[in-house]
Amino acid sequence: MTNTPEPLRGKFISLEGGEGAGKSTQCELLASHLRKRGLDVVLTREPGGTPGAQAIRELVVSGAGDRWNPISEALLMYAARRDHVTRLIEPALAGGSWVVCDRFSDSTMAYQGYTKSLGRDWVETLDALVLDAFRPDLTLLLDIDANTGLMRAGNRGGPDRFEKLGLDFHVALREAFLDIARLEPDRIAIIQADQTIEAIARDIEIAVSQRLLSRDQAL
Ligand code: TMP
Repeated sequence: MTNTPEPLRGKFISLEGGEGAGKSTQCELLASHLRKRGLDVVLTREPGGTPGAQAIRELVVSGAGDRWNPISEALLMYAARRDHVTRLIEPALAGGSWVVCDRFSDSTMAYQGYTKSLGRDWVETLDALVLDAFRPDLTLLLDIDANTGLMRAGNRGGPDRFEKLGLDFHVALREAFLDIARLEPDRIAIIQADQTIEAIARDIEIAVSQRLLSRDQAL
């Protein structure tokens, strides 16, 4: 009797950063780059990625800036994330696909933990309860000056609840992401996002190649 070998578990990559850093474009470029290398890739985003999480997204991105208090907001993000991880991300990884995700837990840490003052411990405790230390294999932090990012985001159309929060909030947000990256240098690579789309994509490919692809797959 022959046993069919289990597929090799895929890798989980998240892209993080403030508004207007170019994450969505870079997620698409990275997914197509990995597909060209023969990998099966699931491209997804947070909050969202499953019908339930997408319904929660509508609740959190629209309405007045103070529609939710920070605790409710963090709980909504983790309700969406739990659904996303259990129904889409985990099964995809177990089936051998790579997953590229536009935002993940570091966004809750940066937005609700740092800039909305819940604190690192509070978000870490919630994360441990809900996700049991489930982490991306690699996180790419697209770092950009807050003013430039907000101007870019503004050019996309009307601001959402978070874009309305003002420059001071977004300056603090950038520092929050950089602090998170400083604490976990093995998982998080900082990518300079004030470059052309092509140059950012190239830096991302190098980081992925160096940190995740095996030598025979490297660029
Ligand atoms: P997006 O603009 O990247 O689509 O994300 C939607 C907004 O939700 C964005 O302004 C950041 C915010 N957000 C949080 O505040 N906490 C989170 O955990 C996530 C995933 C997003």
